[in-house]
Amino acid sequence: MKKIVIANNKGGVAKTTSVMNLIGYFSKKKYKVLAIDLDPQGNLTDSFGIDLQKLSDTVYDALKEKNVKPYLIEVNSQIDLLPSNLDLERANLDFVSTLGRESLLKKALAKVENEYDICIIDTSPSLSTLTLNALTCADLVYIPLRSGYFEMRGASVLLEVIEAIKEDLNPKLKIGGVFLTQYNGRVNMTSEIMEQLESYFGETLMKTKIRNNISLVEAPALMKNIFEYKPNSNGAKDYEELAKEIIKREEIIKS
Ligand SMILES: Nc1ncnc2c1ncn2[C@@H]1O[C@H](COP(=O)(O)OP(=O)(O)OP(=O)(O)O)[C@@H](O)[C@H]1O
Ligand SMILES: [Mg+2]
Repeated sequence: MKKIVIANNKGGVAKTTSVMNLIGYFSKKKYKVLAIDLDPQGNLTDSFGIDLQKLSDTVYDALKEKNVKPYLIEVNSQIDLLPSNLDLERANLDFVSTLGRESLLKKALAKVENEYDICIIDTSPSLSTLTLNALTCADLVYIPLRSGYFEMRGASVLLEVIEAIKEDLNPKLKIGGVFLTQYNGRVNMTSEIMEQLESYFGETLMKTKIRNNISLVEAPALMKNIFEYKPNSNGAKDYEELAKEIIKREEIIKS
């Protein structure tokens, strides 16, 4: 099971939108997908139509017991979800003095390692214990950047944390790539900024840009991913391209 985390400590950069639609693509291609919502806001869980308030067990319980299995929700034949709600907020406090608190998710996933082709993890806009847990168990981290709103300074803090995790907790972690979201070439991206980005990120900057697309905003309210909601939209085209670029970079081939 390849474990991919989508992370950026900045809010509103399309982490959840990207997770939802990558899950949509991979499940459509018959990958067996494990989706993990590691954000107490529960936006990913919500996008699957799950009532956050009625949820009694969440990823919090899985971390506490170091076992995800009893807490998985079957979304459909291709997707299982480890859900989240505000209960997860407790994790950042409760685990503060727990030994190995950054490795709880890694341990919790051990028993299901062979049951899925791919695991995709959504994170909150912070570098909390929860986000560190995601980075400690992952093979790859992909970083969405909101076009026109990113700061190199913000991105460099995230890159430093990733380096520190690699050194101390997870030597196999790789930065899969950085990709632009909410992209509108004419309005918010001058060629000067693009050149800056290319020279800062080099090979890490992905070719795929996710354009601004209203269908991507509408889909989650209908509990659909973009491939179910508007398969011919630019949003669907862009997320298909992103998924293919990820597959190409990592050779994640469904066995
Ligand atoms: N390509 C796009 N075009 C238009 N709107 C988009 C696009 N991608 C995301 N959005 C919208 O931008 C907002 C933020 O997206 P999203 O919730 O995915 O970000 P996030 O990084 O998960 O936020 P948070 O940090 O709060 O978890 C949402 O309203 C979403 O619908
Ligand atoms: Mg989110």
